[in-house]
Amino acid sequence: MTEPQAARVQAQFGAAAEAYVACPGFATGDDLAQLIAWGRTPRPGRVLDVATGGGHTALAFAGLARRVTAVDLTEPMLRAAARHVRGAGAATVDFLAAEAERLPFRDEAFDLVTCRIAPHHFTDVPAAVRQVARVLQPNGLFLLEDILGHDDPDAAAFITEVERRRDPSHVRAYRASEWTDYLAAAGLTVTGRASMRRVRTWEEWTGMTRMAAAAKAGLERFVLGAPAAARAAFEFKISGDRIESFSDGMILLRARKN
Ligand SMILES: C[S@@+](CC[C@H](N)C(=O)[O-])C[C@H]1O[C@@H](n2cnc3c(N)ncnc32)[C@H](O)[C@@H]1O
Repeated sequence: MTEPQAARVQAQFGAAAEAYVACPGFATGDDLAQLIAWGRTPRPGRVLDVATGGGHTALAFAGLARRVTAVDLTEPMLRAAARHVRGAGAATVDFLAAEAERLPFRDEAFDLVTCRIAPHHFTDVPAAVRQVARVLQPNGLFLLEDILGHDDPDAAAFITEVERRRDPSHVRAYRASEWTDYLAAAGLTVTGRASMRRVRTWEEWTGMTRMAAAAKAGLERFVLGAPAAARAAFEFKISGDRIESFSDGMILLRARKN
């Protein structure tokens, strides 16, 4: 990862760590339930949660696995996640600062790896996927969830600009075909897929990243002035000049190491 992107991630998430721990959209949801359902059988011994954020996926898997290791690039986020997970009574989760693109573990160290709603911040997603494959044991499972990239280039460019204005550490979301290619190239075969739509309430979504008032106003002007087709692709709900919500797709994949 280049230094500027790592620094952008750390600045963004370091300042918002407690908000991510407290956010109900990360703490629960049908998406997390789907990952758990996929990871339940066979019961995993050693789980790695990459880019753990507020630790919600690590905590969910602590109920299933013998040991969970949670890594993240942002140390204040790791500290907040550790307080949250230990406060919830889970004593089998270890926290470690590490980049997805350079995982500090031996080959085949884990039975299952999770990575939920984070790769759109990575500089080098194929490298991160190769690292996941390296640390998985043969037949091990990778459970991945992220924002789904839009197939239409204009819609994708519009939402990437919206996301980056709200959070400068957003790189981009990847299309389903890109994910399939990255996984196959790393020796991982897709064995399950699901998609979900997630509604974002505008005030809550912009509030999470503590946008300055002027930046938020600029983002709203950008959305309101965008072509109607771009807004329609993400179901923007607008009342007068007030943006109420929009929705985006999420992709969930289960892949097995060959
Ligand atoms: C939205 S949060 C993840 C949510 C979390 N996985 C969950 O289930 O609640 C995104 C996290 O990715 C981390 N991150 C971003 N780029 C990273 C990288 N290259 N390596 C490791 N962590 C990274 C950020 O520090 C942040 O904590």
